[in-house]
Amino acid sequence: MDVMSPLKPHPNSPSPTKKLLPFALYALLPIALLCFYFHPFHHLPPNNPTILTKEEEIVYETPCDYTDGRWVHDKMGPLYNGTTCGTIKDGQNCISHGRPDLDYLYWRWRPSQCKLPRFSPNTFLRLLSNKHIAFVGDSMARNQLESLLCMLATASNPNLVYRDGEDNKFRTWHFASHNISISVYWSPFLVKGVEKSKAGPNHNELYVDTVDEKWGSDLDHIDMILLSIGHWFLHPAVYYEGGLVLGCHYCPGLNHTEIGFYDVMRKALKTALKTIIERKGANGNGIDVFLATFSPSHFEGEWDKAGACPKTKPYKEGEKMLEGMDADMRAIEVEEIEAVKVNAKQIEGLRIEMLDVTKLSLMRPDGHPGPYMYPFPFANGVRERVQNDCVHWCLPGPVDTWNQILLEVIRKWSIQSRRKE
Ligand SMILES: *[C@@H]1O[C@H](CO)[C@@H](O)[C@H](O)[C@H]1NC(C)=O
Ligand SMILES: *[C@@H]1O[C@H](CO)[C@@H](O)[C@H](O)[C@H]1NC(C)=O
Ligand SMILES: *[C@@H]1O[C@H](CO)[C@@H](O)[C@H](O)[C@H]1NC(C)=O
Repeated sequence: MDVMSPLKPHPNSPSPTKKLLPFALYALLPIALLCFYFHPFHHLPPNNPTILTKEEEIVYETPCDYTDGRWVHDKMGPLYNGTTCGTIKDGQNCISHGRPDLDYLYWRWRPSQCKLPRFSPNTFLRLLSNKHIAFVGDSMARNQLESLLCMLATASNPNLVYRDGEDNKFRTWHFASHNISISVYWSPFLVKGVEKSKAGPNHNELYVDTVDEKWGSDLDHIDMILLSIGHWFLHPAVYYEGGLVLGCHYCPGLNHTEIGFYDVMRKALKTALKTIIERKGANGNGIDVFLATFSPSHFEGEWDKAGACPKTKPYKEGEKMLEGMDADMRAIEVEEIEAVKVNAKQIEGLRIEMLDVTKLSLMRPDGHPGPYMYPFPFANGVRERVQNDCVHWCLPGPVDTWNQILLEVIRKWSIQSRRKE
């Protein structure tokens, strides 16, 4: 039998070659595509920025469920400490407040399916050059923002260029080295709300169909937004929708229907996501959206007794299940993000992802300030009553891992968009 090259007509038998040629090409096409898929930039010059390193190819090819993993001991420890970083809120600066056990600093989250590299400040700065990043939500948003700032500050100096509101509720930093702005917006419901927890009747007012314009009106200038809410919905509140009272949560004496907070949080989230998509989808300049899922608290005893969150080690695998309110809050967030992801696919420049931190945070009962929200709480002996924070996270601490995962998702996006070029 004659061995024929499909692309070169055989001099002695032109007619079968002519017949074979189209078939041969069709057969070759998928093979060529396969080759392209596995070695996409094989033929580009070596200094072409679209060439992926071996490591990047692995990152790109392997989808990873970051929620599936465990905490493992890590000698390396954190990138920063309370001395090297000036932006840690007092109540979370556990080391400076004399927390005696420091073992909680030496753990890293190891996903089962992939590697989660140590946070690289330089990679983050490079990938987000010329961008404005906004953390929007409650004090968990601020907790995560401060972790990110501390890690980035090890590579480049942030300048505080804007500050407004009591208790640092609105702030912006600028990294001149990479022209990156990072802001934090206090908006614990994402929708319009009146916080009344301190004065007058002890409840909040929420307008679930009206976005909070304190951040909404800035969307034009935001390239990446991270939403983080949850705990404020547990407080007593009256809810409004369409100008009417929708109901309330824990409002004895007000004669409104108790409707709990789950549906209300869902509505608030819908309103926020819809607003982002409408405003950024319409003018087409794109935005990356993250939602950090519910961050569990770890009160074991009363909040004002010494041992409210006394653990000094992470839970072992199987020791603690995701259940109850933690699971329900997360489920609502997951459902709402999945729902808008479908629409987002049709809108150019819009990327939406969950930062699913509930489970990995649940496993860290040792990461909260506890009594060390105040400096040296036991300097004069152990007192009968001492306030504990078992909600927020010490910095450095487990919340640094949230930013590690954030950077991995951004890296994957960047690799994917380079492959499309
Ligand atoms: C904080 O980090 C700096 C620089 O790495 C180091 O010199 C200092 O001893 C650290 N402080 C504490 C309290 O660990
Ligand atoms: C700096 O970043 C902002 C976005 O935060 C962008 O609008 C501006 O064009 C950038 N400046 C330069 C010189 O690239
Ligand atoms: C409470 O609300 C119900 C139904 O709206 C109304 O009939 C009733 O008069 C109200 N009671 C008071 C004390 O306002």
